[in-house]
Order: sequence, then C-alpha cells, then structure tokens
Amino acid sequence: MVDDAQDRTDGDRRRMSSCGRGLTVDRDTIEVYDRSAADYAEKFDTAAPDRHLRRFMSLVAEGARVLDIGCGTGNACVHLSAAGFRAEGIDASKEMVAAACAKGVNARQANFESVDGNGVFGGVWANFSLLHAPREDMPGLLARIARSLTSGGILHIGLKTGTGESRDHLGRLYTYYEEDELAGLLVDAGFTATHSETGEDRGLAGTSDPWILVVAHV
Ligand SMILES: C[S@@+](CC[C@H](N)C(=O)[O-])C[C@H]1O[C@@H](n2cnc3c(N)ncnc32)[C@H](O)[C@@H]1O
Repeated sequence: MVDDAQDRTDGDRRRMSSCGRGLTVDRDTIEVYDRSAADYAEKFDTAAPDRHLRRFMSLVAEGARVLDIGCGTGNACVHLSAAGFRAEGIDASKEMVAAACAKGVNARQANFESVDGNGVFGGVWANFSLLHAPREDMPGLLARIARSLTSGGILHIGLKTGTGESRDHLGRLYTYYEEDELAGLLVDAGFTATHSETGEDRGLAGTSDPWILVVAHV
C-alpha cells in the first residue's frame, strides 16, 4: 500500500515505504493513473476479451484463480470472471481500484511487491503494468510471480520495447525492454516461453509505441 508519510526522493523516482516492507511506487506515475481512471476506462475497456486475453484464457486451467497485476480499471478481470475464472486484481492506483471495484471486480490497492510466492494462481495477467517497475526490481518480481503460480501456471506479460527509462509527456515513468532481455529475465525466473509477439499501438498518452507480449509457463 502507499504511505505518503515515508516517501523519499531517489533521483527521478520517488520511493515510498509502508509497514517497513520497502515497497516501491513511482508516485508521479500513480498520480497520472489516479487522475485518468475514467478516461482510461472510456478509451480501453472492451465489451469482449481481445485475442491476447482469449489466448491466455485458453491456456489457464478451467476455473483457476487468476491474478491481474496492475489491473487498472478491471477490464480483464471482468472478462476472466465471466469466463469462469476466479479473478482478482491488484493496482497501486486508488482510483483505478475504485473503478474496478465499481464493476464488481475483486480488486485491492497494492503494490507489485505484494505478490505472494504461494503457488495458488493458475494464471498471472500482467498487461502493460510491470513496465512501471524499476529495472532492478524486475528479476525479483518475476521470481515472485513464478512462485505465486501453480505448477504449469501461465504468465502473460506485456511491456513496451526499447532501451532505458523515460517519462512520457503525461509524467508516467517507463522501463523499456528489448526482446532478448525479456526472454533472458523470464528464463532466469524459471519460465518457459511458449508465445511471443510484437506490435505497435496508441496508448493513453496518444503516442504510438512498440510493445512485446510473452506467454510463458512455470
Ligand atoms: C498501462 S496501465 C495497464 C492497466 C491494465 N493492466 C490494462 O491492460 O489496461 C498500468 C497499471 O499499472 C498500475 N501500476 C503502476 N505502478 C504500479 C505498482 N508499483 N504497483 C501496482 N500497480 C502499479 C497503474 O496504476 C496502472 O493501473
């Protein structure tokens, strides 16, 4: 959770701690999502699951628990629940979580580091969320995700491709990954990739950015 009382500036990134667990959130990024929740839902909520979510659903065990990391407005959780999965979402943005809960989604305000390594999820959906984590945190986050999955559990991860880190004109801080780099990180965390796809789309900031999606299992 986010605790304003203990934040400190760390270069361009503002880290916050809560309950002594050293959680990391880029506050400027979360403020953008807090301000944009309604706009985000209007632009990106879909009446039906897109082909990426349909692929993921076809791979995850029927009725399994699925964790949506950085669930945003809860769109994926809505479709996962409708398909019979026990979907739950976490997101650091209070307003994104409120938008998801308003749709009946089981969502709570929590940071990426709150993912437990307890082998209970048949699938983890991490769609364009972990790109807001610091690069140095990614190996640990992927290891946590691997431990949170049941044997054979499925991960969908979507990131923007490129190098380095930068803020978009809205103020969101991104970490970009090359295809090979992501492949290596997944292997190191114990994943076997079964599908990889690249493309380019227009996001909340209005710019057209290249992305990569990978589906992997433990
Ligand atoms: C680009 S949106 C993607 C939302 C959704 N997954 C989708 O595909 O539409 C990124 C989401 O990650 C969340 N987020 C960013 N940093 C986070 C953090 N450190 N912990 C948890 N959620 C975070 C944001 O609040 C936002 O809802």
